[in-house]
Amino acid sequence: MDRIRIIGGERLAGTIPISGAKNAALPLMIASLLTRETLTLKNVPRLADVTLLGRILGNHGVDITVVGKKAGQATSDGQTFKLKAAEIVDTTAPYEMVSRMRASFWVLAPILARCGEAKISLPGGCAIGTRPVDMHLTTLEALGAEIELEGGYVNAKAPKGLTGGKVTLSKVSVGATHNAMMAAVLARGDTLIENAAREPEVADVANCLKKMGAKIDGIGTSTLRVQGVDQLRGAEHAVLPDRIETGTYAMAAAITGGEVFLKGARADLLERTLDLLRSSGVEIEDTPSGLRVARNGGGLGPVVVDTEPFPGFPTDLQAQLTALMCMAQGTSTVRETIFENRFMHVQELARLGARIELKGDTAMVTGVAGLTGAQVMATDLRASVSLIIAGLAAQGETVIGRVYHLDRGFERIEEKLRHCGARIERVSG
Ligand code: EPZ
Repeated sequence: MDRIRIIGGERLAGTIPISGAKNAALPLMIASLLTRETLTLKNVPRLADVTLLGRILGNHGVDITVVGKKAGQATSDGQTFKLKAAEIVDTTAPYEMVSRMRASFWVLAPILARCGEAKISLPGGCAIGTRPVDMHLTTLEALGAEIELEGGYVNAKAPKGLTGGKVTLSKVSVGATHNAMMAAVLARGDTLIENAAREPEVADVANCLKKMGAKIDGIGTSTLRVQGVDQLRGAEHAVLPDRIETGTYAMAAAITGGEVFLKGARADLLERTLDLLRSSGVEIEDTPSGLRVARNGGGLGPVVVDTEPFPGFPTDLQAQLTALMCMAQGTSTVRETIFENRFMHVQELARLGARIELKGDTAMVTGVAGLTGAQVMATDLRASVSLIIAGLAAQGETVIGRVYHLDRGFERIEEKLRHCGARIERVSG
């Protein structure tokens, strides 16, 4: 299994290109199931999860062409995918696929909406929490589907198609909102979705669905109104830049006392995060082509923050912020309100000398004068990158195991960091 080896202590300096957002690319690829025509997606990130989802969609009959690099195109530019679901040949998503990537459960709504039936494996548990899908199922029932659970599978039927209705999500849920939207766009009649997630990736998918002919109002708000249409057409859409990658590299620059330019980053996608970093003493300059992030000399101030649905501070940046605050001058309070087990990075950071006390859903992080390199283990996608952030600041060598977690969500991370002066390499075997 690959490992990542870092010799810490180097200041990051240089330009880091921000890739397309994983959490937009995945549902956008799934949206191709909603039409017989070709959906062209640009700026698709080179990630393991994208490759895996491509294989899963292929099983359902989606033809995917990856358009070759063109002259003058930089390697850091995203890929262009052409996806065409002329016919959905299989309405079953098997356990061995869905258990490997939860987001593949989201094929349920478009397959049901298009074919009138779907048999999708329940995704099962996950390292960061139980992550139920009850709201996905009640949403489809509200739109006229018959749902049965049998042998770990969801059997969904809507032989006469789905019917518009009122969907009230009891909790803000990104996945349940994607599910509701993709069911509603082909339903007969109108659908009102209340307490919808406002994450930029949800808005990105909604904007793409509109280009495909869907009728959606309220995009970016917590109330979406969808007028069902008979069918959707093909379209072309560029995946928006990854706000989690942006926040991650901003924190990596901050912990090393460096200065980086995050090319293609959009400040409007993570304003709460940028405000938090500014309050801690990080300089952030918003420019038309990206964000300049610097921490020159001054210390890092502690923060008090809860993770919240957008526009609040995102749970997907919590592990990274916890790592950064290990070097702050004072004690920070980081409360995780979205998932029940998203502090697995804490014991690994402690191996590097971090002082973090867990009290229920809250981590009390007391800054230390320095961290010391050690062997650590990645446990989930975002936890693994928090170990890289800490390793960049730790004196000596840090070796991170199980880095396959990293490749799921961060495109060529060691290349991007090495380009900015980090002493980081991937060690095979
Ligand atoms: C999406 O997961 C993201 N994944 C997650 O990113 C992200 O952490 C999460 O949203 C929150 O922002 C993708 O976009 C592919 P939720 P999702 O439904 O949709 C509860 C990463 O690192 N809930 O918004 O699965 C759930 O347990 C990943 O890129 C129910 O109770 O998350 C959680 O407590 C990790 N019932 C809360 O809602 C349901 O039916 C929010 O989860 C659905 C969710």
